[in-house]
Amino acid sequence: MKLFQIILVALLLVTVTLTVFDVPTSEGNLSTLAEPKSAEEKSEFWIAPDHSMISQEVNAELIEYGYELIKNTASYLGPKGSVMAISNGMNCQNCHLDAGTKVWGNNYSAVASTYPKFRERSGAYETIPKRINDCFERSLNGKALDTNSREMNAMVSYIKWLGKDVQKNEVPNGSGIIQVPFLDRAASPEKGEVVYQAKCESCHQKDGAGVFNADNKTYAFPPLWGEHSYNSAAGLYRLSRFAGYVKANMPLGASHDAPILSDEEAWDLAAFVNSKPRPSKDISKDWPNISGKPIDHPFGPFADGFSEAQHKYGPFKPIKEKRQALKNKKKA
Ligand code: HEC
Ligand code: HEC
Repeated sequence: MKLFQIILVALLLVTVTLTVFDVPTSEGNLSTLAEPKSAEEKSEFWIAPDHSMISQEVNAELIEYGYELIKNTASYLGPKGSVMAISNGMNCQNCHLDAGTKVWGNNYSAVASTYPKFRERSGAYETIPKRINDCFERSLNGKALDTNSREMNAMVSYIKWLGKDVQKNEVPNGSGIIQVPFLDRAASPEKGEVVYQAKCESCHQKDGAGVFNADNKTYAFPPLWGEHSYNSAAGLYRLSRFAGYVKANMPLGASHDAPILSDEEAWDLAAFVNSKPRPSKDISKDWPNISGKPIDHPFGPFADGFSEAQHKYGPFKPIKEKRQALKNKKKA
């Protein structure tokens, strides 16, 4: 058992090191990352502060409200929300698991420490409220929240509280979404469909629409495609984000140290789910610098000459190699 654990930790370290130095599909925000920490410093996973300590804070009530909004977004801000109706019925927590505290569960550990930061998608410095509104307009296929509203202040306060022990510019180990290694082939919607039927359909349903709770306004199992799902401008629409999210978190119960899906299954599921219909959004203002587009951003034009289909499904290695060559040429 001990030896097994050591091997596991070693493997994780390798993955983490690769992610930190390679970040093939990051949104081009590398320039704002601090110097990568040594493997030893990075070996510990981030642990969220103890929730019961919120009561010690002067703005405890606001932080708790932010926590509540992130867990139960639809109850307040969904189509039948009690505060206002500006989003699709999903909760932030559906994608930012355990209210943004789960290791490799798309957690918020690096938000307070790295924002405001430059993002290639908008071509601008983004504050935390701006980043939250990105998710409202894309992942929640809705409208931006007034940045002066109590709701926005509450969510920002909670996210800042979560990251309060992380040093400026530090990206803790296990922050965000894990990078699943690229396959040598294109990801396959056909293969993904078979895996979907076996491992996902029981909860997310054959039509991908999920299942409502008895209140008929919040989801027990959130939708994966269709009109109530995230739109095609959302992060999960990129195959690497979807594959990484499900690899470490789905089917429900999976975690980074006890994954259920193989790498191939994760990529093929991403291809299947993201080949299904979903809302779209005008993204003509996104990626003002086209060479800053991530490898798996599926909408052209591209600076590297590869097709939209290859940018969506892969194979990604040839794109990565060509981009590296172009970069080297520029340097020479
Ligand atoms: C459908 C899934 C989904 C939902 C729902 C969602 N998000 Fe996100 N969110 C993402 C993805 C994907 C990313 C980008 C992660 C990456 O690229 O590593 C992200 C990124 C973020 C970030 C930046 C994280 C960082 O470290 O840079 C913040 C902050 C954020 N979301 C807040 C929210 C809030 C608040 C809500 C609810 C109002 C929300 N999100 C709802 C999928 C979602
Ligand atoms: C046992 C039920 C269950 C199974 C099986 C399951 N999921 Fe989920 N899934 C959930 C729940 C519940 C959530 C929301 C988690 C939360 O809010 O804490 C979720 C969230 C998600 C999300 C992010 C939110 C969204 O709707 O976009 C994705 C993507 C996802 N699941 C994909 C999958 C895939 C792919 C599979 C198959 C490998 C799968 N799930 C299997 C229950 C399940």
